[in-house]
Amino acid sequence: MKIAIVGVGHVGAALAYSLLNLETASELMLVGRNQGRLQGETLDLRHASSFFDDPPLITYGRVEDCRNADIIVLTLAVPQIQLDRNAMAADNAALFRQVVPLLAEQNPAAVLIVATNPVEALTQYTIELSGFPPSRVMGAGTIIDSCRFRLSLSEHLSVHPDDVRAYVLGEHGDSQFLWQSGASVGGVTLDPADIPQSMIEAARSSGTDVFRLKGHTCYAISEALQLIIRSIAGDRLQTMPVSTQVNLGDEFPPLCLALPCIVGRTGVTRRLQPKFSEQEYQQWLTCGQSVARTLEAIRE
Ligand code: 2OP
Repeated sequence: MKIAIVGVGHVGAALAYSLLNLETASELMLVGRNQGRLQGETLDLRHASSFFDDPPLITYGRVEDCRNADIIVLTLAVPQIQLDRNAMAADNAALFRQVVPLLAEQNPAAVLIVATNPVEALTQYTIELSGFPPSRVMGAGTIIDSCRFRLSLSEHLSVHPDDVRAYVLGEHGDSQFLWQSGASVGGVTLDPADIPQSMIEAARSSGTDVFRLKGHTCYAISEALQLIIRSIAGDRLQTMPVSTQVNLGDEFPPLCLALPCIVGRTGVTRRLQPKFSEQEYQQWLTCGQSVARTLEAIRE
């Protein structure tokens, strides 16, 4: 299992480190432009890997050197000075135009995972640039937003976060919404009246809070990526809200939204279709409109 991380900034480095613990990769390749930085990260990770039982081979190189990977994680992004996930859309899309076609050519069997924001639009763009089947391209979606929500609800209810089943869906951005009618604790469906609105707001805004306080976010997104990678590498078929291509009807172009999906060795093996209330369905369409606008803005 060869896993390549393309773009080794805060997120890529945190992910590389957490993948050492996973012990499923036989090779971990760091890919980017700044070879000195990559060499430094590689050396540091190799030193750390001596503490692990079964560490992967850790290599680095340019996009041209990245071949025959099984999983490629795209974390490359232009430096960000504010957390407005759409502000860097055009610049990040330009980076994707430079690397995705070559990566697809040299890694024809890979599953591609997009972490870069705006993640739903860039996942759709990656499907187009790679020519891969949509099932083999997914984005980190609203896994972290769902985790942020589950954490605050679990604290509110004094129950372990694992026992809260709740998905934030649609867009990893401002139009996201909580699928309230599908939220449960210990298997018992939650009455929407029991879910404080402030927690839904906090799930939406807490990435911005972290960004404001430390200048970037990296650990939660890297855990979300690790969850996806574990399900692919081990063919675990776990359910998670990744960005995946959806059909919203004739008035929408093909686009990706975050939806609970089953993830396994071949990528998204199945998309689940939640039973939305009328209000939730309208929120779902609003997410589609938001992503469609972003996609229009990033195309050349
Ligand atoms: C996050 O929410 C910045 O999108 C990133 O952590």
